[in-house]
Amino acid sequence: MDLEIGRSERLFLCGASGAGKSTLLYTLAGLERPDSGSVEINGQSLYSLSAKQQTKFRNEKIGYVFQNYFLLPDLTALENVCLPALIKGSGRFSVDNSAAEDLLEQVGLSDRLNHRPSELSGGEQQRVAIARSLINDPQILFADEPTGNLDSSTGGELMETLMHLVTIKEKTLIVVTHDSKLASLGDRQLTLADGRIIA
Ligand SMILES: Nc1ncnc2c1ncn2[C@@H]1O[C@H](COP(=O)(O)OP(=O)(O)OP(=O)(O)O)[C@@H](O)[C@H]1O
Ligand SMILES: [Mg+2]
Repeated sequence: MDLEIGRSERLFLCGASGAGKSTLLYTLAGLERPDSGSVEINGQSLYSLSAKQQTKFRNEKIGYVFQNYFLLPDLTALENVCLPALIKGSGRFSVDNSAAEDLLEQVGLSDRLNHRPSELSGGEQQRVAIARSLINDPQILFADEPTGNLDSSTGGELMETLMHLVTIKEKTLIVVTHDSKLASLGDRQLTLADGRIIA
């Protein structure tokens, strides 16, 4: 695969289950080293960085909404959203909650700040994951089926919120979706099959 993604581009990835969408996202985000080839971000070869540098790079530059959220079960919604900020400011013992509260409000969860993941619906957990992905104001946002667990009206509204947030801040957005209506909102749409771009 040879793929170039522009700064501030909003790219949507489609394709059947097992096509390799999540694998591609992991590889682009520095979470899964490719067996061959390389990933360059701003001219920097991502997998040439040391493990520590990669971790810092991901924490500061990349937001990621995982297909299965990966929220920490013992933390509340608010604490989950604050966590990347806490890691970024390592050495400090507290972070300002207000940015996290704002993000949770924007995804419609103001009344769920102190609930743990097990006390939230799938769609609510998904929205916490979206808020968490944005807390460190990343330059690049990866989202793996971020509305997959939402009804079409909530999903559509949330995608609009997400598009608005990335557009005003000129972020690069790479989204996996099965919803062709949502995919048409982006600047470019690619379809994957068997690990290759076919359209
Ligand atoms: N860690 C792994 N080791 C071996 N094979 C894997 C691993 N992770 C995924 N695969 C395989 O790679 C292929 C692509 O998986 P991937 O998760 O990227 O698909 P996907 O397009 O995201 O599918 P879905 O729409 O179901 O989420 C699948 O055949 C999957 O079984
Ligand atoms: Mg997937």
